[in-house]
Amino acid sequence: MAPSTPGPSPAPGTPGTPAPGDLTSELLADPYEVYARLRETAPVRRITGSDGTSAWLVTRYDDVRRALADPRLSLDKRHALPGNYKGFSLPPALDANLLNMDPPDHTRIRRFVVQAFTARRTERLREPIRRTADELLDAMAPAGRADLVAAYAAPLPIAVICELLGVPPEDRRDFREWTDDLITPDPARPEGMKNAVRALLAFFTGLVDRKRAEPADDLLSALTAARDESDDRLSEDELVSLAFLILFAGYENVIQLIGTATLALLRDPAQLAALRAEPARTTAAVEEFLRYDSPALTALRRFPVEDVTIGGVTVPAGETVLLSLGSANRDPRRFPDADRLVLDRDTAGHLALGHGIHYCLGAPLARLETEIALTALLERFPRLTLDAPPETLRWRPSTRARGLRELPVRF
Ligand code: HEM
Repeated sequence: MAPSTPGPSPAPGTPGTPAPGDLTSELLADPYEVYARLRETAPVRRITGSDGTSAWLVTRYDDVRRALADPRLSLDKRHALPGNYKGFSLPPALDANLLNMDPPDHTRIRRFVVQAFTARRTERLREPIRRTADELLDAMAPAGRADLVAAYAAPLPIAVICELLGVPPEDRRDFREWTDDLITPDPARPEGMKNAVRALLAFFTGLVDRKRAEPADDLLSALTAARDESDDRLSEDELVSLAFLILFAGYENVIQLIGTATLALLRDPAQLAALRAEPARTTAAVEEFLRYDSPALTALRRFPVEDVTIGGVTVPAGETVLLSLGSANRDPRRFPDADRLVLDRDTAGHLALGHGIHYCLGAPLARLETEIALTALLERFPRLTLDAPPETLRWRPSTRARGLRELPVRF
């Protein structure tokens, strides 16, 4: 997803505020405990970020779903009140992307991607995904133990998205070196983000130029050709930032989902055994993994273009709204026994991939990759177990992105 601002902490003295405390650290330590509390006590809650800016965190399923589809909630930063939102500024060639846009620009660009990113193109990745998964598992096997995130969950989606976009093998790399600096900037290294932006911009501008010079049968060549056929469909900045968005959105969340899904299974031997016995249930199980530990804990920030009432609370125009997908998906009003992983439950309506006009463009690919990744992993290692007590596992330091830093396993 697009980069995020630093995490929120409480607004002291805000009316309706639950017990004081540092909400950011609480959310980092156990987001679901905090969500459960907020859903009951303050389902639309004003919070203040560590940079001093405030946002409204929405945690109930019905409110989140309705707000995701509300055209009065804009993704365009120009609707933010001056001084109220301090996201960081990216150059237009990275920033002019779908997740910063409303109709009609969003509609125009999205239609263009939908035409190029077809079901056939996704399906054609099935073989390469399985082959890459098998190669990674082969490489892991001799050691008998591994960090599953570094050895498998991360390299697989990065390879897949490079294949989809057409990143030449010699230019492939662990893009997380750059994108981690955007998602979780290190305050001690302010130059880190600047360098990352510079590197990303040079990389994507160069890649688009190359596709123009040497078109191939890949998504970026198709998008570049379509742009060049008609100038008014997509500006050069829009094209470059589209490539950036697809790459970035296309691996980050999948890495997290493969990690958290594997962890959930390893913590629940009965459900793991059931899935091993009937691998055909993996397709449905992926939906439950998405619901149970949603990689995007919140949707992208939104800005009301006028005062908007959400869950009975009026949010003034221009303020920042954070819709918690992770909380909505654990709302017991919508999913009975929501904190329990139930692989064959009815997950219809989960919001892990969004809802409305910004619904995830890569949803079919995300599902395909996760399903193949889990199937190949379980087939290859019949005795896969955790290699560390679950309570010692470290999560990424983000209130927006839910993911494990490492997942030590034995097999
Ligand atoms: C498990 C994996 C994934 C998750 C959980 C996920 C989640 C999401 C969510 C929640 C949104 C909507 C954000 C909002 O409305 O604020 C979204 C949008 C998007 N996703 Fe994904 N995503 C995943 C995988 C992918 C993949 C594999 C791709 C591309 C290959 C992708 C490309 C996009 C794009 C381009 C958008 C923007 C759509 C728009 O604004 O119209 N995503 N995703």
